Amino acid sequence: MSIPQIFDALKSNIITSPNSWQGVSASNVPWSIHEGDARTVLTQLDDNSFNCCVTSPPYYNLRDYGVENQLGLEETITEYVGKLTSVMDEVRKKLKTDGLLFLNIGDTYYSGKGQSQGTDRKSNKRRFGLRPVDKSGGVGIGIQRKSVIGVPWRVAIEMSKTDWVLRSAIIWHRARGLPEAVLDRPRRSYEYVFMFAKDRKYYFNRQPLIEKNIDEDVWTIPPRPKLPDGIDTAPYPDELVQRCIDIGCPEGGAVLDPFAGSGTTLRVAIKNHRPATGIDLNPDFCRYMVTELSKY
Ligand SMILES: C[S@@+](CC[C@H](N)C(=O)[O-])C[C@H]1O[C@@H](n2cnc3c(N)ncnc32)[C@H](O)[C@@H]1O
Repeated sequence: MSIPQIFDALKSNIITSPNSWQGVSASNVPWSIHEGDARTVLTQLDDNSFNCCVTSPPYYNLRDYGVENQLGLEETITEYVGKLTSVMDEVRKKLKTDGLLFLNIGDTYYSGKGQSQGTDRKSNKRRFGLRPVDKSGGVGIGIQRKSVIGVPWRVAIEMSKTDWVLRSAIIWHRARGLPEAVLDRPRRSYEYVFMFAKDRKYYFNRQPLIEKNIDEDVWTIPPRPKLPDGIDTAPYPDELVQRCIDIGCPEGGAVLDPFAGSGTTLRVAIKNHRPATGIDLNPDFCRYMVTELSKY
């Protein structure tokens, strides 16, 4: 059966309303998926209702997710940082007072070469012509060609100017470097997972880090291979989400992902008996998530 066919077959067990789906897993864990722009949909959710948010937004100018109003393709880095910070402001309202946000974000280089650097013959997600990071102008801040932009820290610093408390800058060591064809610098092998608290007092459980003998704030986890179903969301590994939930979400606590993609956060949350809510702008990704979550 194709994904749309499975989707239709499953529809009868799921409560649907325009652009949203709700279901309950076999072990009685509720989930919901909302199709739409993260910032807009977030305003429609209840304040103070989530214990934990685990998410990975589109990285700056790295992919075209093929939907209008997508985040990530802004002309300037300032615009991107501003938009992402305003989504995260909304996330903060939705978290309970003792809630945590885990924000996974990677960096981008500024090439300024005047020709597309994003071309990847194997993926049409990376064929989107002359990106702002290929044009002259230094992505609006006048940085030198070939510079790493420092996107994660620009976002983290901007968020720190609001009410968020930045408690940890966890390194996700990807175990294998990115497949970059570079000869004049080391290949990149890590990304950040920023742990933000809504308030200075919050839920945190260090025990799983001790029990699993994890290197505290350096998490070595292999990257996830591409999904077999042709859904290319740049998914993060289950283990990354598992660790965030282990340390940052109490038993039965509700989990949110405003950039849910293929639904990794929701799937791992449900497996761990945590109610889960996901938002994504791409209708195909939402359908995929509904189909996948219905299997639980
Ligand atoms: C890096 S991917 C998330 C991948 C996800 N963590 C997974 O494991 O599959 C970012 C997602 O953000 C979605 N997105 C882009 N702009 C959005 C927006 N304005 N509102 C909601 N979702 C958006 C994209 O469709 C994409 O699925």
